[in-house]
Amino acid sequence: MTEPITFDGRVAVVTGAGGGLGRTYALELARRGARVVVNDLGGAVDGTGASQKAADVVVDEIVDAGGEAVANYDSVATEEGGAAIIQTALDAFDTVDIVINNAGILRDRSFAKMDLSDVQAVIDVHLKGAFNVSIPAFRIMKEKSYGRFVFTTSASGLFGNFGQANYGAAKAGLVGLSNVIAIEGEKYNIKSNAVAPIAKTRMTEDLLGPFADMVQPEQVTPMVVYLCSEANEGTHEIFTVGGGRYGRVFIGTNQGWFAGTEEIPSVEAVSENLGTIRDISDYVVPLNNNDEIMLLGQMLSG
Ligand code: NAI
Repeated sequence: MTEPITFDGRVAVVTGAGGGLGRTYALELARRGARVVVNDLGGAVDGTGASQKAADVVVDEIVDAGGEAVANYDSVATEEGGAAIIQTALDAFDTVDIVINNAGILRDRSFAKMDLSDVQAVIDVHLKGAFNVSIPAFRIMKEKSYGRFVFTTSASGLFGNFGQANYGAAKAGLVGLSNVIAIEGEKYNIKSNAVAPIAKTRMTEDLLGPFADMVQPEQVTPMVVYLCSEANEGTHEIFTVGGGRYGRVFIGTNQGWFAGTEEIPSVEAVSENLGTIRDISDYVVPLNNNDEIMLLGQMLSG
């Protein structure tokens, strides 16, 4: 039997926790003993507007259930906002152990019609927002040699989706950020993982078609909460979670075609060997740059 997973003495920051998925993470962490900063700007799905209500309602829910939480209404999209979110945790609870970078907006448009202001807005919230919150949090975690990060990526970033170039680029960027934090955090017991959720929220209710009612945010919560726990020793991974399915997405590389070093192959030689170059029946999942260089090194050294 697995020991019950609790968060007594732990402090969690959940961005965008005033609704949707973030709300469920905040509630479950608090139910299991964490003290939680419920951050939410309280705007619309496209990122416009602001209201304190979203965060306040979730804090009330937590407190009514006997838990501990404080609200923060800053935007993750600015450096000052990120710093203020972490400062809220320090002021209320003295430290930060867990950060779930979850806040997000949508500005979908086909690429031909995409406006750079929509690119900026989406990158600012998802990708830069994660930097704004995670840099000050990482410094605290490094000092205390403990930390858990969860970054929210998306199938749109990992695999691509029509009309979401801005969002997909930001979401793929978060995987890169999580991977480097995992590597740099390793010796400080800081774990960093990414989750690609699928759930019916205000952001997706019109996009999920017939499956909408079968994919609840609460089904994503156990995986995210596990990754935030002391029990989780895993890092540098990406999980896909939705509708009762819990799986892993990974970035691998195949053996490829080794042309040798004697002569530079022709363009025709590349064309002729494309089958081997593209074949993914035999692959490795590198955990850092060196893992891939080692693969090449084995070939170079015969
Ligand atoms: P949601 O719209 O219910 O939640 C997002 C929350 O972030 C909102 O409460 C919003 O007010 C807040 N927020 C937006 N901009 C903010 C800012 N600048 N600062 C602070 N808070 C801000 O949508 P949902 O679905 O719960 O999204 C949560 C995360 O999951 C997002 O990052 C989203 O991109 C991601 N995601 C969701 C999927 C789904 O199927 N629901 C699929 C893939 C990714």
